[in-house]
Amino acid sequence: MRFNIFSAVTAILFSSLASAQLSGKVGPTTSTASKAAKKVCNILNYGGVASKNTDNGPAIASAWAACKSGGEVYIPAGDYGMATWVTITGGTGVSINLDGIIYRTGTAGGHMIIVEHTTDFEFYSSTSNGAVQGYGYVFHAAGTYGPRIVRLVSVTNFSFHDLALVDSPAFHLILDTCTNGEVYNTIIRGGNEGGLDGIDVWGTNIWIHDVEVTNKDECVTVKNPSSYILIESIYCNWSGGCAIGSLGAGTDIHHIEYNNVYTQNSNQMLMIKSNGGSGSVYSCSFNNFIGHSNAYTLDVNGYWSSISPNPGNGVLFYDMTFNNWKGTCSDGATRAPIQFLCPSGAPCYGMSAANFNVWTEASTEVLYKCENAYGSGPCLSSGASHTAYAIQTKTVTAVTGYSITTMAADLKAGFGLSTSIPIPAVPTSFYPGLAPISAKLG
Ligand SMILES: *[C@@H]1O[C@H](CO)[C@@H](O)[C@H](O)[C@H]1NC(C)=O
Ligand SMILES: *[C@@H]1O[C@H](CO)[C@@H](O)[C@H](O)[C@H]1NC(C)=O
Repeated sequence: MRFNIFSAVTAILFSSLASAQLSGKVGPTTSTASKAAKKVCNILNYGGVASKNTDNGPAIASAWAACKSGGEVYIPAGDYGMATWVTITGGTGVSINLDGIIYRTGTAGGHMIIVEHTTDFEFYSSTSNGAVQGYGYVFHAAGTYGPRIVRLVSVTNFSFHDLALVDSPAFHLILDTCTNGEVYNTIIRGGNEGGLDGIDVWGTNIWIHDVEVTNKDECVTVKNPSSYILIESIYCNWSGGCAIGSLGAGTDIHHIEYNNVYTQNSNQMLMIKSNGGSGSVYSCSFNNFIGHSNAYTLDVNGYWSSISPNPGNGVLFYDMTFNNWKGTCSDGATRAPIQFLCPSGAPCYGMSAANFNVWTEASTEVLYKCENAYGSGPCLSSGASHTAYAIQTKTVTAVTGYSITTMAADLKAGFGLSTSIPIPAVPTSFYPGLAPISAKLG
């Protein structure tokens, strides 16, 4: 109860900050209704067949060609096989309404659907039942990867919503160099291994909210270069966790804000990851992170050993706030729930961690680790000259106020790699006590 009142208050507080974080309007400039009023290109009229055994790739491409200058590509309820991939390009004022389910049957690499150089675009399901079933387990059982599901490249003024992306053979959704976009009411269910990223985004002025991801890699992750990205109400329901990175030479990332992120059984609640490299990440904030049973929690890691060192003195991190983090980690004595491990060649500064109450499920203490890190909060150095210093570890034997409300049905185990993953419904909550910012359509 106390928690619900608190989140209602923070929701109001952050909705005003929210718009400030974006640099302008996001989403399509005309409605789906006005697009459909112009023209509807039902794939069944362009050679499509509602059958899992038909390749509907060519029909999607033909329907797009007929509607891309204004209209709606319509994939009605039903099952559709897809054996060949499509790159659809040059749309203006066009939507794709996927009420059916697309089943991957082809085995080529690349991406099943690439949409590029398109503006005033909406990819959605009017019933919230639309999905792409990637049948990634067929690859994963054999220890390989296949195509990614959806990639948007240089798409402007767009939205993507009310869809399920399931069991991708590789990454699920990539927003590559996109602008003025919104992604919401989306669920991603992948297998329990690395290389199956949920959402990877780079670009500017993008709002991603009300998204659930299951996999064992990126939940909703910001890549380089990016600015003015707002990410809210994210449910990493057995995932790798959210991140910024990995980062190398020429990093240019700023004005990133994450609010209301719930993470369970993931590699981390948030990692900012680099190893060597150059450039900077600045003016970012991370508020209301809660979770349980995660390996790492807050992990700013300038020496991330899973990538080889990049040329440069290290990526500079500055002016970042981490506020109101709660819950428990798996073992805070083995994996410190706070790590600010900044590069010695570019000590971070202006870091602030406040209201950080994360306790441990195993052991009786948690560690905080700081290295070359300046600012205010646990183990950060307050000095004004930002010189390099060796790792400092603080041991904490009691934390109060860490209890959280868990989500009703946290996934109890990751999805395997050798059996098909069921298609889930788009959920109606992505953070305890919060309804989606926009109501689910279906
Ligand atoms: C995107 O929308 C904005 C209005 O919100 C408009 O000014 C801009 O020209 C649009 N961009 C494109 C590429 O159509
Ligand atoms: C988390 O994932 C599991 C497995 O699909 C699902 O049963 C559960 O409902 C999800 N949790 C929530 C709160 O949606």
